[in-house]
Amino acid sequence: MPVEVVARHADAASVDVSLLVIALPRGTSLPAELVSLDAMLGSAIARTLGRKDFRGARDETLHLAGATAGPQRVLLVGLGDAADDPAALRRAASLAARQARTLGTPALGWWSGAAGDNAAEAVTLGLTTGAWEYTELRTPSTGDDRNTALENVVLLASDEHAATAGIARGLAIGEGMAIARRLAMMPGNLCTPEYLASTAREIAQRHGMTVTVLGRAEMQREKMGSLLSVAQGTPQDPKLISLEYRHGAPDAKPIVFVGKGLCFDSGGISIKPASGMEDMKFDMCGAAGVLGAMEAIARLDLALNAVGLVGSTTNMPSGTAVNPGDVVQSHLGPFIEVINTDAEGRLVLADVLSYARRFTPAVVIDAATLTGACVVALGHAATGVFGNDEALVREVLDAGTRAGERGWHLPLFEDYREQMKSDVADIRNSGGRAAGASTAAIFLREFVRDFPWVHMDIAGTAYSDKDLGHLPKGPTGVPVGTFVEFARGRSS
Ligand code: BES
Ligand code: MN
Ligand code: ZN
Repeated sequence: MPVEVVARHADAASVDVSLLVIALPRGTSLPAELVSLDAMLGSAIARTLGRKDFRGARDETLHLAGATAGPQRVLLVGLGDAADDPAALRRAASLAARQARTLGTPALGWWSGAAGDNAAEAVTLGLTTGAWEYTELRTPSTGDDRNTALENVVLLASDEHAATAGIARGLAIGEGMAIARRLAMMPGNLCTPEYLASTAREIAQRHGMTVTVLGRAEMQREKMGSLLSVAQGTPQDPKLISLEYRHGAPDAKPIVFVGKGLCFDSGGISIKPASGMEDMKFDMCGAAGVLGAMEAIARLDLALNAVGLVGSTTNMPSGTAVNPGDVVQSHLGPFIEVINTDAEGRLVLADVLSYARRFTPAVVIDAATLTGACVVALGHAATGVFGNDEALVREVLDAGTRAGERGWHLPLFEDYREQMKSDVADIRNSGGRAAGASTAAIFLREFVRDFPWVHMDIAGTAYSDKDLGHLPKGPTGVPVGTFVEFARGRSS
């Protein structure tokens, strides 16, 4: 159930809530707007700040309870030094919503100062992000464990009208993120290529988009030998999904988002080690990001043309699976020697990227959990960003910054093409260990024709294998925010 958020112009002392969250920057003293509230609390906040029990650092929280008047509980949450940055508000709000869940309160009030429309958007997005949980596969407990979904938020704002507009935008993006995170968290036996296609059909129906789904037979007709080589080991029907959102000038070229949708990546014949293999259900986070972003773009009613493309299958070892040394012909034409069947994402994306040409894209941006090498290079701190157009790379990095999804430009040196030379075919799908994220991107570039293109390697950022405080273990929502901010930047 989505969180209901309303803006209210009121004194913090007058809101009757079971939990009031107060977001404060580092090193602050008691803000003037909170003086009457603090008086009701017996000066608890001022004393806490004076004693430096709470310093306002990023991710710092302090829970005050037991006052005889005012809100039943007060949660101080720190914004750190970048208090004006929407990303700081979003992070603090996400952390607060997670704490509200463990406190067992379904309603909260939020105060973080004036709260204009951008701040209201950031807070709303953060609260919905923090309130998100994947509970569908757990039997609801009947005990009194304090795990209550957040239902109602009162956002204190001096300009209710502006804040209300921001709240609507935050909810729109939050819904896109929730769709992406749910798809990512779903196990591979439930989130199949067919399930991704049915989700795309639902999004299309909700928002009047055109949806097209190619299965194995249609892909054979299109001679997508590269994508089909990955899919030949699985009985499940692979899907190439396109979603077309047309709210721009009729003749305006669309921006095209492409997502890797491996609903499970066992590695195929080049099988992965057992330890941690279950995380390869997350190998469809690029696809989930595309679908989530399309939902958010439609809810935001952005004035532009956008196309979402998803290439989806599973990568399985079997008697019909592709073998190392096999050569297949791509949709574009070049022959590919499959050296390692675990380098399957690039085989899928090769055909989707060349299929993108039929939409005459203004730009193509793909997102893929493509390489472990990208995680080695950047850890979980940034998405690897590659491209054939410096200005577009910059634009994507800036969109990521606005979204609180850090990216880092990695090189596409010509030298890397050498590593991809095949003894028998035009190119091989693995270039060995050196610069693995870059050689994967060089492989993709071979299938990019006639459009500016950026590739985002989200292997280290799309999901987390540990609790991050402001986010739980599991999918982070990356790359939905970057896609949405990019689209916003391009909409008129
Ligand atoms: N899906 C994996 C990449 C991956 C690894 C994502 C770890 C998230 C976490 C991809 O299909 C893969 O297996 N890549 C290989 C490529 C290699 C065989 C050239 C890799 O990174 O080891
Ligand atoms: Mn793989
Ligand atoms: Zn993979």
